[in-house]
Amino acid sequence: MTQTWMITGANRGIGLALTMALLRRGDHVVAAARNPWGGALAELASEHMAALTLLELDVTSDNSVAAAKQVLAGRPLDVLVNNAGIHGPRGTQSALSMDFDGWREVFEVNVYGPLRVAQAFLPNVEAGAGRKIATITSRMGSIGLNPSGSLPYRSSKAAVNMTMVVFGNAVRERDISVLLFHPGWVRTDMGGGGADIAPDESALGLIATIDSSGMAQTNSFRTWQGEAIPW
Ligand SMILES: NC(=O)c1ccc[n+]([C@@H]2O[C@H](COP(=O)([O-])OP(=O)(O)OC[C@H]3O[C@@H](n4cnc5c(N)ncnc54)[C@H](OP(=O)(O)O)[C@@H]3O)[C@@H](O)[C@H]2O)c1
Repeated sequence: MTQTWMITGANRGIGLALTMALLRRGDHVVAAARNPWGGALAELASEHMAALTLLELDVTSDNSVAAAKQVLAGRPLDVLVNNAGIHGPRGTQSALSMDFDGWREVFEVNVYGPLRVAQAFLPNVEAGAGRKIATITSRMGSIGLNPSGSLPYRSSKAAVNMTMVVFGNAVRERDISVLLFHPGWVRTDMGGGGADIAPDESALGLIATIDSSGMAQTNSFRTWQGEAIPW
């Protein structure tokens, strides 16, 4: 059965790969991005007029999310994917010398963004049959893996893990599963050219793992292939 997925940060990287893979298999996609009207999404929209909805959305902005919520009012979503994210200032992220404004910005996108989006589109997910909200976090947010370096990014991913687990417990009785994923080390603008896997491989793994997940997996922290990651 055709599903409808909404992806944030859908204009490039993993978000674009998810969008393309879902369209290829015949699903409908709401591709949300700060500027969805140009670039790769505009090209895709001309090929997939019926299946692709472009939605302007800045996850850090209450006004932008409220406007997008209005546009999507009444439209059921099977799966909502919080994918948008930033790494933050490179080189000034040290535990010994911190760019605090840069750190704050990372939290705006990576922590407050996913919760703002999950709250806004919860009625759409409740109206759908899939009832899943997935967040692309990172194994770099694992405290158990004894981290060092990249403090703003790592702390934001640890914080979004906690945020979405608390959210997951708040929506557990509504049968909505809340899932946390490390997408692999992926060749995107963020991951860099030397990363392990192509965006398409990550996207296909994420989609297969999300497809096979339900309430039994709510509040799990796993890789794109479904392997558990220590908190
Ligand atoms: N690549 C990896 O190896 C890797 C590993 C672990 C986790 N992740 C996570 O995977 C997710 C996707 O990463 P990626 O590698 O695809 O990164 P990317 O290529 O840098 O793409 C990031 C996406 O997030 C969007 N974004 C940034 N700020 C936003 C905002 N305020 N509102 C809406 N969208 C915003 C960007 O949109 P603009 O074009 O408008 O900037 C872009 O679409 C992120 O959450 C990242 O932390 C990636």
